[in-house]
Amino acid sequence: MDDIELLPSEIPVPVRWTSDGRALDLLDQTLLPREERFLRLKTVESVAEAISSLRVRGAPAIGIAAAMGLAMGTLLRIEADPEPPSRSQLVNGFREDADLLRGTRPTAVNLPWALARMERVFKESVSRGSPSEVGDALAREADLIAAEDREMCRRIGEAGVELIPENGAGVLTHCNAGALATGGIGTALAPVYTAHARGYPVRLFADETRPLLQGARLTAWEARRAGVDVTVITDSMAGALMKEGAINLVIVGADRVAANGDVANKIGTYPLAVLAKHHGLPFYVALPRSTFDPEAPDGGRIPIEVRDGIEVRNGIEVEGAFDGRGVPDGVGVWNPAFDVTPAALVTAFVTDGGVLRPPFGPAVASLLGTGPGNTA
Ligand code: MRU
Repeated sequence: MDDIELLPSEIPVPVRWTSDGRALDLLDQTLLPREERFLRLKTVESVAEAISSLRVRGAPAIGIAAAMGLAMGTLLRIEADPEPPSRSQLVNGFREDADLLRGTRPTAVNLPWALARMERVFKESVSRGSPSEVGDALAREADLIAAEDREMCRRIGEAGVELIPENGAGVLTHCNAGALATGGIGTALAPVYTAHARGYPVRLFADETRPLLQGARLTAWEARRAGVDVTVITDSMAGALMKEGAINLVIVGADRVAANGDVANKIGTYPLAVLAKHHGLPFYVALPRSTFDPEAPDGGRIPIEVRDGIEVRNGIEVEGAFDGRGVPDGVGVWNPAFDVTPAALVTAFVTDGGVLRPPFGPAVASLLGTGPGNTA
């Protein structure tokens, strides 16, 4: 990774442009919480590597990083030679970059959603603009995707805070659906941050989230920075905690939600929804509209990423911090990164367009503008 160099620690925005707008600074989330290190990414290949290896992760942040990477690829192609690239060079290069980024992670629908937006802008601008106008249009669209996500997170926070008791609440979450996973204050964590800002006494419990510990490493890190009272539990402790009466509600994010409301999210979400139902607790899923996939009629049509078994054998590979769990040689492991929670286990979706209650099919269709009487 010659194109990556170290930068001093800065604020925890997952990814942003360098001041000259020709490279990206990306917070390496595999190193958190031990080290806040920004990587300077100067090629599309390094952006793809950062997404595949979870240096940047979380559905909206993956989409934002890919959009910025795609814009960067075209900007660099335009400036590589004294001669401006031909139209076909621009088109072929853009396609190759988009294919590379599309292949990084299959489940988060924000990735193909963001790439499709970039492709639309590319097609429009390349047919009538100069190469530099094409590059500028792509950079603008990537920034717009990030800015819209920031605003959607804020709205999710406003909608979701209504579900949190003002006089004190225990909130359980899984994985990391916070600032590190988005362009703003997060999805599942947005209502928690909003409640905290309003002075509600919220107690956040974070599932550690095996095998890569996004809950223990990332949710705990960013919630603590924000001053939220946060406690980490192992995934297997959730049932006991609910039985103790410490939890009032569960709220998680999503990587892709099908048209019928089935939810693909971090492995371990489904058993949490089953536990919540058994204990009579509300199970909320928070997401921006960009995480719904109207093309997937149900959860059976959502592609589930299966990652290298080394992650289950050894945990996250950070200089001995989380390794050493081990599995005997010769024993197989199964490592799906996500599971699907049936819509029937979801109490409500907390979205930038408000709280959606069952029946989810019509509610989702209406949010996405495909409902009856809306053909947009
Ligand atoms: O494998 P990850 O860390 O990318 O998985 C992330 C999640 O499952 C999040 O809950 C989801 O992407 C929503 S992020 C706002």
